[in-house]
Amino acid sequence: MINKLNVEGQNKYDYPETRQILNQLVADISQLSVNIHQTHWYMRGKEFFRLHPLMDEYMDQLGVHLDEIAERLIEIGGAPYSTTQEFMDHTGLPEEPGEFGKYSMEDYVARLVNQFEYLRDVYQKAMEISDAEKDWPTQDMLNGFKGEIDKNIWTLNAFLGKGPFGD
Ligand SMILES: [Fe+2]
Repeated sequence: MINKLNVEGQNKYDYPETRQILNQLVADISQLSVNIHQTHWYMRGKEFFRLHPLMDEYMDQLGVHLDEIAERLIEIGGAPYSTTQEFMDHTGLPEEPGEFGKYSMEDYVARLVNQFEYLRDVYQKAMEISDAEKDWPTQDMLNGFKGEIDKNIWTLNAFLGKGPFGD
């Protein structure tokens, strides 16, 4: 029989709202990866040779975010969404069939900025929630991820001739 060791006042690790918002991120990042893959396949135009591989970089980046977030969610007692149906049921991002010629290259980039901005805002919300629930390792992880998304937004907006906030 082993007696459980306790540090006074430090035996309650329950982060229900953090678990919920992390699963939101699992759904949103999964959907964003699908949308970026679609962009990778359907884009046409002068910038193809630069933007086509850029989409691969974004998918790699988001793949790291997704796995770390899902595993952190498990560490704090959650169960990550893991089916396409669950992602679709919970994401706030659009789902739209691909169609050649529907969007110009600039439209695709603007669409991507819009979706990265949405993800940035979910990250911000998740940082605030994990801070309020004192789940600082989660917040620490999210801080870096949001910084990466901020950079994506800045550089894509620069491509469109705009400032970091699309102004
Ligand atoms: Fe490819």
